[in-house]
This record gives sequence, C-alpha cells and structure tokens, in this order.
Amino acid sequence: MLRTARSLLAVVSAGILVVATAMSCSTSANTLTNTTNTNGTTNGGTNAGSSTYNDLRIPPTLQGTSFNLTLARTTKQFRSGTATDTYGYNGEQFWGPTLILNQGDSVQMNVTNALTDTTTVHWHGFHIPASMDGGPHQTIAPTTTWRPTFRVRNNAGTYWYHPHLHTKTYDQLTMGAGGFIIIKDPIESALQLPRTYGTDDIPLVMTSRRFLSSNQFSKNIVIDNYGDYMLANGTMNAQVSLPKQFVRFRLLNAEIERALNLGFSDNRTFYVITNDGGLLDAPVGVTRVRMLPGERVEILVNLGSDAVGASLDLKAFNSGQTFGFPGNEGNPVTPSGNAGPINGSLLNNTDFPILHINVAAATTGAITTLPGALTTNRYWTLADVTNSRTINITGGQAGGNFSFDNVFFDHGYINQTIKLNAVEKWTIVNNQIFGHSIHLHDIQFKIISRSGGPVEAYESGWKDTFYIPKGESVVVVAKFTDFASSTDAFMFHCHMSNHEDLGLMGQFLVVP
Ligand code: C2O
Ligand code: CU
Repeated sequence: MLRTARSLLAVVSAGILVVATAMSCSTSANTLTNTTNTNGTTNGGTNAGSSTYNDLRIPPTLQGTSFNLTLARTTKQFRSGTATDTYGYNGEQFWGPTLILNQGDSVQMNVTNALTDTTTVHWHGFHIPASMDGGPHQTIAPTTTWRPTFRVRNNAGTYWYHPHLHTKTYDQLTMGAGGFIIIKDPIESALQLPRTYGTDDIPLVMTSRRFLSSNQFSKNIVIDNYGDYMLANGTMNAQVSLPKQFVRFRLLNAEIERALNLGFSDNRTFYVITNDGGLLDAPVGVTRVRMLPGERVEILVNLGSDAVGASLDLKAFNSGQTFGFPGNEGNPVTPSGNAGPINGSLLNNTDFPILHINVAAATTGAITTLPGALTTNRYWTLADVTNSRTINITGGQAGGNFSFDNVFFDHGYINQTIKLNAVEKWTIVNNQIFGHSIHLHDIQFKIISRSGGPVEAYESGWKDTFYIPKGESVVVVAKFTDFASSTDAFMFHCHMSNHEDLGLMGQFLVVP
C-alpha cells in the first residue's frame, strides 16, 4: 500500500498523464470518482464566468503588541447541503484574523491549539530567533498555548502565519489554517499609498479546493494537489466593490501546489510595489505577475478611469503554460465535470477568475496618482559573498518523492550549517522533473540570476520564496544576521505543502 502511494506520488509530482491514465483502476481513480464537480450548486458552483457571486470575506484585524490566536475546527457553508469541515483562527470559518504589527515593537504571541491534533504556527518571512519561528520543532499540543515573543525587525509588507508541523502542514493548510500579517514602518507610512484596510487596501489570499460528494475537502496528498474551485479569502465566486481610484491588493498565493499567472480580464497594466520582504525601489508596471505558493506581492491597480458600475476580474491566466509549471498538468474542464487524471483539476491549464470587481464611487482622500520612488534598498550582491553552497533538488522520479541532495526531511539531521553574519550565495539546482517554490526561513534574500532567463523586474526585491522552474538553477544571496543557535534550526523547503510534507525540506543552523 505504501508502495502504491509512493509510486502514485511520483506520478503526481511528475505530472505524467500517460502513467496516470494507466493507473485508472487504482485507489486514486476511486477517490476521484467520489469527487463532485457539479456545476450550478449554491455559490454558483463554478469559477467559469458565473453570475452568482458571494461577497469577498475581509478578515478582521488584530493590532497591538499582544496577540491571542486560537485554532479550532469549525464548518463553512461552501455548497448546498452539508457544510464543509474547516479550520479557522479566532472563530473564523476559514483562515484567520489579519495581524497588524509595527516594525520595532516587541510582541507577545499566545497561540492556543483547540484542535485534537498537534499544530505549530510559523511567522512566514519573519527575521526572528529559530526558537520563536514556529517551525516543525515548536509544537503546540492540543489544549495548550505556545507563547513566543520577538521584536519585529522586518520591513513594512505582507507576511503570513500558518501551521508548519511536518507531515501535517498539507492537511492543516487545506482545512483553512492561515492568516495575514501586515507590518507597518515609517518609510511605507510616509508614502501616498492606499491603506484603508478593506476599502482600498485589500488582503487577498488565493487558494483552491476540491470537494468530495460529502462536501468535505478532498485531502489525499497524493492526488489533491490542485483544487477545482478557487477561493478568495475563503469565498467561492468572490466579488468586491472597489472605489474608482488606485486600489492596493496584498496578494498571497496559498495554493497547495498551483502557480498563478495573474492579471486582469482587460489586460490592463498594474504595478507591483512590494515583494515578500517589503517595498521595491519603485513600482514595476506589468500585465502579468507569476506567483508560486508562499509568495506575496502588493500591487496597485488604477480604477480611476473606470465607470462606476463597470466590472472586471482578477484572473489566473494559467492556460498554455509548458509542462513543469505547477497547474499546467491535467485536463481542461470536461463537459462531464470530471476532474480526470490524478493530477488534473477543473482549473488546470485554463484561465479562470479569482475575484470579480465592481467599480464604485471614489472615497474621500482617494489616492489618484502612482508614486514614483518607494524606498532605497541596498541589496546584497555577489561582491558581498563570503561563502557559497549548492543545493540540489533531487528525486521525484518514478517511485520516489522529492528531496534536497537525496536526503528526505529528518528532524534529527542538519542539512546546512552557516556562520553568523556570513553573506551566502546559494545556488539551487532543480532536476528535470518539475517546478518548485523554494522558501528559506530567517532571512530575506536577493535573487541574483536564473539559468533559464532573466530575473523578472517584479521579483527583483527582497524575497523569501521563489519559483524554480524545471531544469533551472537559481542563485540567491542573503546575509544571516542576528540570530545564532547551535541547537535551534531554521527550515528551508518547497512551499508546495505536498512536496514539503513528503520530504522536500531541510534544516540549517546559524552558528556563532
Ligand atoms: Cu510559509 Cu516554512 O513556510
Ligand atoms: Cu516542490
């Protein structure tokens, strides 16, 4: 049985449809038979141009220097009939409140686990000591509270929190556990940018789910890497009214595996103003931005020339990608609504809407111009490098899962040891199997080069997560400052939580 699971996984990872089809009598096919993709249910039931919309959920906010989070099981009515079992923090039915932090503050987090399962909470993108990081080692047993404290050192930007328990991350993320963190700092606050939360400053977490005929989320880590229905802040077929002015979106790809090639339905230009670790030097105009699981960008879009009452969609333009782009595999929507092969999905290899936008009247104090300069970053360059290392993404061939340097994640194994204050060049080399989304804890880095082409202008800022296409090498440079420990490790991993949970994760120590 294990053997079957492992070989199926290889199929999923590699997305080889021919092999998947040959396995049509396997367990996986039975599971897919249980998958309901019926159109026309409550909530529209389809992402394909439905006219039945639901209002976008805007997560509530928590501010201050002491934060209480409680993760519990709950339910949410996504479809007609039985409500879906979900996880949410602080009574939310999916996802959690947005934490608003100020750079420089020392904060106290109190994270209570009201599940019957152990969890952790990781502060994704934060530069904090490893013991406070919320990785797989900082477990929170059921009915207990974890109380980390740390000083907020990161730049203003969009970050997030989510479970990180090894072999459970996929499951708990799928259930809905996660939340935004917004950091504010004086540089960002001095800019003329939209920042009225929920009005012209919209957090938007994008993730999709597959439903069983029982209406429960389908959570087979071998099969369900791509959902069939897109959720925006946990809302299916979401719509929002936005004022006729510059609007800011804080975008987070929290998919399990799918990359999102984002743009607007009329192909208008929009402006990327941040990467994972804060402001770019200046806005970067684009018509598409590619986001992998774990990545954030803040964008500005100008609705000032749109008529009140007009509408447009934020969409993923995911059709026509080459193999290795996560979400290219599998079939387009079939008339029967069947999700098809193991790694297929109703949304794979298609263009699909994520958020329907209705243009409304401008607000008082509307931002109507695009800022020129944003900040001045001093990035690390190759000239700063004091140590270099190469890390290979290995495995993934038939019969195997992905690994780093042929080592699957092991709690007791330290993959890399780094000297405090080293400026390190990491060359990540991907094998010929599939694309990944690589995330390093502790630091923000600069992408120096990609063997497959240029580093895009919209990914030229501080990053903690990056796309590595199939067969490519990517060079990043980071300085490992402030936090050393000979016992508490930081993680590096693929942020596709199926790959991560099945072994594509490693640990590094930063030592004095
Ligand atoms: Cu967003 Cu190691 O995680
Ligand atoms: Cu991966």
